Amino acid sequence: MQNIPFRLGWLVLPLVLLQLFFSEPQTSTLSVRVTRPTSVLHKNSSLSRADSTTKTWYKNSVIYTLDVEVFYDSDGDGIGDFRGLTQKLDYLKSLDIDAIWLAPFQPTPNKDDGYDISDFYGIDKRFGTFNDFSEFISEAKKRDIRILMDLVINHTSDEYSWFKASRKSKDSPYRDWYVWKSKQPANQNKGMVFPGVQKEIWTLDSLTNEYYLHRFYNFEPDLNAQNPEVVAEVEKIIKYWLKKGVAGFRLDAVPFYIEVPQTKGENFEHEYDKLVQMRNWVKEVRPDGVILGEANIEPKENMNYFGDKGQAMNMMFNFYVNQHLFYALASGEIKSLTKALEATKDIPQPVQWAQFLRNHDEVDLARLSNNQREKVYKEFGPDKNMQLYDRGIRRRIAPMLHNQKRLALAYSLLFSLPSTPVIRYGEEIGMGDDLTLKERESVRTPMQWINAPNAGFSTASKTVRPVISQGEYGYSHVNVKSQEKDPSSMLNWVRQLIHLRKSNPQIRQGDWKILDSGSPNVLVMQYEWNGSGLVLIHNLDEETQKVELKAKDAGGDMLFDLISKKKNEANEKGLYQLTMPGYGYAWYRIGNESVLPNKQD
Ligand code: GLC
Repeated sequence: MQNIPFRLGWLVLPLVLLQLFFSEPQTSTLSVRVTRPTSVLHKNSSLSRADSTTKTWYKNSVIYTLDVEVFYDSDGDGIGDFRGLTQKLDYLKSLDIDAIWLAPFQPTPNKDDGYDISDFYGIDKRFGTFNDFSEFISEAKKRDIRILMDLVINHTSDEYSWFKASRKSKDSPYRDWYVWKSKQPANQNKGMVFPGVQKEIWTLDSLTNEYYLHRFYNFEPDLNAQNPEVVAEVEKIIKYWLKKGVAGFRLDAVPFYIEVPQTKGENFEHEYDKLVQMRNWVKEVRPDGVILGEANIEPKENMNYFGDKGQAMNMMFNFYVNQHLFYALASGEIKSLTKALEATKDIPQPVQWAQFLRNHDEVDLARLSNNQREKVYKEFGPDKNMQLYDRGIRRRIAPMLHNQKRLALAYSLLFSLPSTPVIRYGEEIGMGDDLTLKERESVRTPMQWINAPNAGFSTASKTVRPVISQGEYGYSHVNVKSQEKDPSSMLNWVRQLIHLRKSNPQIRQGDWKILDSGSPNVLVMQYEWNGSGLVLIHNLDEETQKVELKAKDAGGDMLFDLISKKKNEANEKGLYQLTMPGYGYAWYRIGNESVLPNKQD
């Protein structure tokens, strides 16, 4: 296996690296290299602009997620802020992303990186003022970028005035805003979301000597969604932020918000109608508004969360595919990934999956079998310190894959899947992690902008979280500025993928199927929409693989390589015989380059 870190490539072997990173796939008749004319880099595709006016704009979009706290500090206090983020909008626009999902930015004691909110209607003053926020929203709008925010309504911080009032006395008007039990619940130590760190889900409160429910940490008491007053407040919160200009929400911890609390067992019942209700509130204020749900569920539950006609959540993260994708990358075999793709295929027309490689949490591998999980641990997180909550890995993707060809392949795969790609700040430059930080903070270090103190994130002597300054992922090797200049960089590869994705609407609009590649390691997906098709090929194995495709299955006897701009014809037997190098990938349009779909959305 090639194990060449970015630093080595950039400092010592730039030309070799260029070759390694982008010299695939070699097919029998053509050789593909990433040769993207620079002129396409900063240009928005007309397709994305056309789509941005429709209610289903999110289907052909790319979402970028960041935490204001660690993105860019404009005032030198060591903490990122809205003014800093506004200054970086042109950079985000240059990636051609369509929406930003912001991690929580409301006032917080900050014991769970802002997910412990103490005022739903405020802005944490460390990040700036409401004016700064409004300025940010309006500058983003000028650039045609929509803003989604985290909506964390399963729980509050224990420092929220509502909880303080609730725990004061059993007669408090806020008592029923949270879930209290007088007797010790039988499931006190079952169903913790953070096993190993969290000891229980019911904690005895000293003031009234009763137990309160918290599916997460004990400083995050669960709101009582059975209480109509709480539900009315959620409506108020949703409409409040939509009126402030956000285009929707990443709904935190969906299954927990809609579950009916109980004191026994671990499998709680869910009230799915609550999701439809929320979606309607969003629509009332913003017909193009979206709810993107965080629900790590089994495929059989998908329809409950999307709604049988797509009337519940517009989008959900596809955690199921994510974990099988990690298994596929670890094992080099596609079988479990294809099964996961098929299992999540049938969803109502208006809704869409969101696909990601990494998010701000651990890579959650809980839905894999023990053997599969062990395989992923062995390959990507062998040390105990890299693992978390008995189910996942707390590393960034670049150090996990630790191989540029495989990293390039992983991103090509992400953008080729039938879902909206979500990329996390720093991924586009292959940032690393800091395993000396606790739990998930390892993957939440400040953005690396330039090769200068604090990576240019801040001029303060101490930053909110340490900047990665040492080793191969330190800012002197991994930063935006140097990658801007390097045509073979990760940053420019991600830009090219965004462009490829947006120029090929078949992926989000069309039907897809998996073709038999004849190899257990090579995934071949075919998309078809309005007279135009694509064949996208990914070899997950480190070894070269031979692929044979029947032209009639692929949908035509000519494939046009969208990366190398070369043609590939089927042989006289009607077969494409391709040789895919280790971790090679190819994006083909069926027929000529000019065969575009007949019409747009
Ligand atoms: C979600 C968030 C996670 C947070 C938790 C509690 O799972 O992704 O970061 O800790 O909710 O709010």
